[in-house]
Amino acid sequence: MSTPHHQMHLAAFVTAGPGRPGGWRYPGSEPGWLSASYYQHIGRVLEQGKFDLMFFADILSVPDRLGGSVDSQLRYGALGSLRLDPTPVLASIAAVTDHLGLAATVSTSYLEPFPVARSFATVDHLSHGRAAWNVVTSFQDSEARNFGNDRHIARDQRYERADEFLEVACKLWDSWEDDALVMDPAAPLFADPERVHRIDHEGQWFSVRGPLNVSRPPQGYPVIIQAGASPKGRDFAARWSDVIFCSHASLESAQEFYREIKERAVRHGRRAEDIKILPMATPIVGPTTEAAREAERRLTDLVEPLAGLSTLSYHLDVDLSGLPLDEPLPDVDVPGVQGHYKEVVEMTRRDGLTLRELGKRYGGRTEGEFIGTAAEVADSMARWFTEGGCDGFTVGAVHTPGAFEDFVRQVVPELQRRGVFRTEYAGKSLRDNLGLDRPRAGAWRERRYGG
Ligand SMILES: Cc1cc2nc3c(=O)[nH]c(=O)nc-3n(C[C@H](O)[C@H](O)[C@H](O)COP(=O)(O)O)c2cc1C
Repeated sequence: MSTPHHQMHLAAFVTAGPGRPGGWRYPGSEPGWLSASYYQHIGRVLEQGKFDLMFFADILSVPDRLGGSVDSQLRYGALGSLRLDPTPVLASIAAVTDHLGLAATVSTSYLEPFPVARSFATVDHLSHGRAAWNVVTSFQDSEARNFGNDRHIARDQRYERADEFLEVACKLWDSWEDDALVMDPAAPLFADPERVHRIDHEGQWFSVRGPLNVSRPPQGYPVIIQAGASPKGRDFAARWSDVIFCSHASLESAQEFYREIKERAVRHGRRAEDIKILPMATPIVGPTTEAAREAERRLTDLVEPLAGLSTLSYHLDVDLSGLPLDEPLPDVDVPGVQGHYKEVVEMTRRDGLTLRELGKRYGGRTEGEFIGTAAEVADSMARWFTEGGCDGFTVGAVHTPGAFEDFVRQVVPELQRRGVFRTEYAGKSLRDNLGLDRPRAGAWRERRYGG
């Protein structure tokens, strides 16, 4: 049996809404997006499958990058059409699970550190140490317009603000010493004022006095997740993150990214194993390879090209509405997610896709390597893992909850048989299960300024 160190980690990619276009139209998909029981069911399924964590993506607007309109997002139930606030959703899942990590996406560009630090400290307490924060800097003008600005902040400034945001959040989590909450009724001493400190932060972006009104989170800091892809973003991720999300169209590009990020982390004084890199995989499992391919075709047929293209427009932050649908995606200047652009360029070239086909494919978001029988999917995943492409995966579902149920029932046992995935949770907290140390107070200094 391999040691936990040599086993992969699995995160589940979920949106608190209908998710992938086509997915909500797929037979067996359940339209339960507005009820807690729907998310609780997915959480229980993932916990049966020994997943490390369940991750909610988020955005602070209905995207309108395609032709300046929200029409195709709403009409086709695309990725950004309907999103509940993920943080209260996490709390509802915490109530019915014991081991599963619970991650929400929260932007550092539009919110303030105090309420964000407070809400993650809250989820970390409610879940006894299972909270994670996917730190995003946001990149849509449509989001800026919901916060009093016409344009989003330029990337360099976004990451400067994010740096200071995390510093303030960590100072707030540290503002209660670990043993500050005494609760001695006889003394009486509820919390020791000597061990709860103001932070008196005065910076370029934020001025925060503190202390936080929540005691230090069980994990010290919640697990920090990041998906920066630009040089600034990678640098930020290499310093701050415990987990990195990315998307790659091939094992080769995953390996290149993996090497590069781990080297960066080491340059910043961290150990390579302090960061877990989890690329996206969106498997489709069938009783035979052909049946899985057929399921993929049925699913892709249900995706309107404009549903995928409106999501691609928002991910790339490029209006694709004027481009001819029957020609390939031309070279474009991409202010948005570089990783997604690299991935679609690779896909377009390899498979000779027109923009229309790309729209359907992008909407369905399946990755060829992970379509097949459970054994084939597990083989591909094990190969990426053992050949230096990743520390595990961010598993997407083409329809929910069915695709997660299939994965847990069929693929997880195959991974376990190959010795590359746990059969039991290693510990109590998400940090334990990820094999990460609990940060001591003040640990943010090395993250921000290097060790
Ligand atoms: C798997 C994955 C999930 C992501 N989820 C979100 C999300 O939910 N919300 C968001 O605003 N950005 C999300 N992003 C985008 C990243 O946060 C980031 O903005 C992007 O990778 C661009 O990085 P850059 O700003 O360094 O160019 C995601 C990226 C990846 C690869």
